[in-house]
Amino acid sequence: MSGSLPPFLAADPDEYEHFMGRWSARLADPFLVFAGIEPGSRVLDVGCGTGTISLALATRGATTVGVDVSESYLDGARRLRSHPRVTYEHGDATDLRYASDSFDACVSALVIDVIPEVELVAAEMRRVTRPGGVVACCTFDFWGGFAVLDLVLDSGAVLDEGIRTLRAQIKSRPIVWANGQADLWRKVGLVDVVEVPMVLSFDYADFEDYWSSFSTGPTRIAQHLTTMPADVRNEIEQHVRAGYLAGLPDGRRSFAVIVRAVRGTVP
Ligand SMILES: C[S@@+](CC[C@H](N)C(=O)[O-])C[C@H]1O[C@@H](n2cnc3c(N)ncnc32)[C@H](O)[C@@H]1O
Repeated sequence: MSGSLPPFLAADPDEYEHFMGRWSARLADPFLVFAGIEPGSRVLDVGCGTGTISLALATRGATTVGVDVSESYLDGARRLRSHPRVTYEHGDATDLRYASDSFDACVSALVIDVIPEVELVAAEMRRVTRPGGVVACCTFDFWGGFAVLDLVLDSGAVLDEGIRTLRAQIKSRPIVWANGQADLWRKVGLVDVVEVPMVLSFDYADFEDYWSSFSTGPTRIAQHLTTMPADVRNEIEQHVRAGYLAGLPDGRRSFAVIVRAVRGTVP
């Protein structure tokens, strides 16, 4: 009904830091504690992007391979987050080139929502992990847990058909619903599956800091906003600004964001 999801445009690693890297750094520790990664283990980080989770794994004592489809993000990871225990490699999450059972654990943060073939990703993550190893993943709860984006999507949807469609495309995927990841994990044969919500704080200095995170950069909404007529875009910006300010002076606003994390064990 809503067509296929437009691609995530992973081009500029510095732009990614502004949009998300600064917040995924806050996710790394709670997510890896939840996953139960042990020091000394060999771990694959799928969709490593600019290396936030890979670096956190290495800091926790894991020998880590970060794999991503974007060469420019991998360059950013090597520049921003190199570590003697991390290797960054090019690869596709739907067709991993690693041997079966070759990692003690496999993790992936904020990736599965940008890939259409989620079952292939989950099956590949399971395949490369040894029996008894953990496979863990997390993504935003796009239903009520991601107000930081809803303000843009809901304001924009009033004025623009394309944003209405995009909102439906983002929200219609079961993987971003509560227990969507857990259902997928069981479907690919993982056991002892647990899914939990985690709360992060996204803290913006002012409206410009907030708006530039969503009106530029790799996201579907940014790509759409940059190609729409300037008058419509400006009107959307004014409505989003009004929502951000809520009648108060411009300045810092903090959004509570829910990330849902799942873990399961390879039988
Ligand atoms: C939102 S970023 C998350 C990056 C990182 N995990 C983090 O938490 O900051 C999504 C990442 O998924 C990567 N990606 C998208 N499709 C992919 C695929 N088929 N295989 C591997 N990586 C992919 C993108 O290049 C991007 O780096």
